[in-house]
Amino acid sequence: MKGFSIFLCSVMLAVGLSCSPIGLLKGIADESFLELGELDSPTKKLKLNFYLEQGVPTYTISKNDTVVIAPSRLGVELKDRSMLDEFKIVGFSNRGRSETWTQPWGEEKEIENNYRELGVKLERSSGERMQITFRLYDDGVGFRYEWPEQHAFKDFVIMNERTEFVLAENHDAWWIQAYIPNRYEHLPIASKASEIDTAATPLTMKTADGLYLSFHEAALTDYSSMSLINRGDNTLEATLFPWMDGTGDKVRARTPFVSPWRTVKINETPGGLVSNYLELNLNEPNKIEDTSWIKPGKYVGIWWDMHLNRKTWYSGDKHGATNEYTKEYIDFAAEHGFDGVLVEGWNIGWDGDWVKNANQFNFTEAYPDYDLEGLTKYAQEKGTNIIMHNETSTGIENYDAQMDSAFALYEKLGITTIKSGYVGDMIANGQWHHGQYMVRHYRKAVEKAAEHHIMLDVHEPIKDTGIRRTWPNMMTREGARGQEYNAWSPDGGNPPNYVPTILFTRMLSGPFDYTPGVIDIMLNDNEAGRPKNRVHSTIAGELALYVVIYSPQHMAADLIKNYEANPGAFQFIKDVPTDWEHTKVLNAEIGKYATIVRKDRNSDDWYLGAVTDEEAREFMIDLDFLNPDLVYEAQIYRDGPLSDWETSPYGMMTYKTTIDATKELKIEMARGGGMAVRFKAVMSKVKE
Ligand code: NOJ
Repeated sequence: MKGFSIFLCSVMLAVGLSCSPIGLLKGIADESFLELGELDSPTKKLKLNFYLEQGVPTYTISKNDTVVIAPSRLGVELKDRSMLDEFKIVGFSNRGRSETWTQPWGEEKEIENNYRELGVKLERSSGERMQITFRLYDDGVGFRYEWPEQHAFKDFVIMNERTEFVLAENHDAWWIQAYIPNRYEHLPIASKASEIDTAATPLTMKTADGLYLSFHEAALTDYSSMSLINRGDNTLEATLFPWMDGTGDKVRARTPFVSPWRTVKINETPGGLVSNYLELNLNEPNKIEDTSWIKPGKYVGIWWDMHLNRKTWYSGDKHGATNEYTKEYIDFAAEHGFDGVLVEGWNIGWDGDWVKNANQFNFTEAYPDYDLEGLTKYAQEKGTNIIMHNETSTGIENYDAQMDSAFALYEKLGITTIKSGYVGDMIANGQWHHGQYMVRHYRKAVEKAAEHHIMLDVHEPIKDTGIRRTWPNMMTREGARGQEYNAWSPDGGNPPNYVPTILFTRMLSGPFDYTPGVIDIMLNDNEAGRPKNRVHSTIAGELALYVVIYSPQHMAADLIKNYEANPGAFQFIKDVPTDWEHTKVLNAEIGKYATIVRKDRNSDDWYLGAVTDEEAREFMIDLDFLNPDLVYEAQIYRDGPLSDWETSPYGMMTYKTTIDATKELKIEMARGGGMAVRFKAVMSKVKE
């Protein structure tokens, strides 16, 4: 066997890999480690080691000689055979890539994709073949299983995936539980990793050495979504949602087949995690040739009314989607430059307990008091458009059956965005919301929408794994507790530390349709009889959300009358763009505060958003992100001296000052508040 190891090392060296002597890795001294590979990231910040431990594929990741992922096993159990052990390495492939690609829209225009790749070809003694492909970046790793065409099997079923992530220590973790009702709509838990039971991803951690880790997956398109289960001894293991037909099947597949990428981002700051585009990089490039119809934007609509119980989705006296009320919103959108008007409850199917209506929704037929064609035309004539609402209440077969005709109708009417919804508990159409059945459904909806030139905003979605790179009509999604929780949640809503936490958990996966901008903080119009429900912030804090929360489509969620009563605050909502050239996190502590700046793609302007938890905060920031050749007018929206999310949420100061890149700016935030700034480029500096 020693001879084989030496032979293997020479093969690896020949293909550009380095080969370490046995026992080089900390804690590895067993004679059985005879087959191993080693890969450095492009500038050698991270190192990956792969080896077989008695036939079991095993990997480790280290950063500057510090172990980040301790020896962790890889493999899957198929229905009729194990693919966990008895492997031998039959070949390696090694390549690298260094490129920059452009996002048609996004939080950052140019994305660098720089990695080294190691493909390990494995074969079991009984003949089954599998490859594990690793891509190592300077700030993270992705790896996936690949099953090539082979004699041993064609159709196969994955019963369990045994991917491990063994943590070097018991880190601090921020997470939400998996396999519980309400999908991803939970307040994140901050605890030691040892207290995790099962966590949905992205799962965020901080190590004692000050590294920030995010565990997630990329390119989830035909597989069951991965959560992580705590196996004790700092070991997290992949767990997959099963098909709900008593078989226990997790993934049904046919060779050639690949799993989604399992990903770990590894950064030195929380902001580093935000600017780490690992999952996007691991998705296939854009498949939509002409993207001219895909446009980020802002919308208003008949929505918050329902959550306050002022209007209903269903027909009757309080029906929201009427011709008259929709026209009011269209006129308002047109007057203030909004791209879309969302109208919920326009279609047949809402009567009765709509949450259970599943198969009763009709996606082409409107209630008699809603003129679908007339209103759509009216909106378009005024320079805005209707956002079509498709609530399925998880009647998937019903939606599937109507998708072709509905999407074709919307396209014919010139509608360009659908907001879809999948309200239902953990089970959709008899299947787990996050299992392979639903993953396939969500992907089909994206592809069908693309065929019909329609952008998607999906509520109760499958989590984002970066597929917007491939399908840039997949704009935004919910997948967390949105603003609506402030209106009706029995626990009162989203506390002030919610946003500073989700920026570094859920938001790491991609855009979030939070529906910000509720400036009547105390919800004076809440007719739901829940006096304790309110927004847990200040007006400045709500404005800041347009910058800190990234979404290519943001709603101005409040009622028209509240914007009309506060034109000062509304001005920021009108000004702020939703398509960015650059994004930078200036400072942050997970769960406490964050300051984020973004540069508009279509002008020289920059925008700043800062949010804090229950603590008031002040700090100075350098403005060196601004263009040094320009002079800017800073339009500042900040909490007043007496502002406080609990006792005085309405006070806000707005003022303007002239600044440039050499200056500093004081960020001042009240308890539970925030700050928003538009840096409007006003002129070039006079050259001396
Ligand atoms: C839940 C969504 O999050 C919300 O935005 C929508 O109004 C309701 N479902 C009804 O579809």
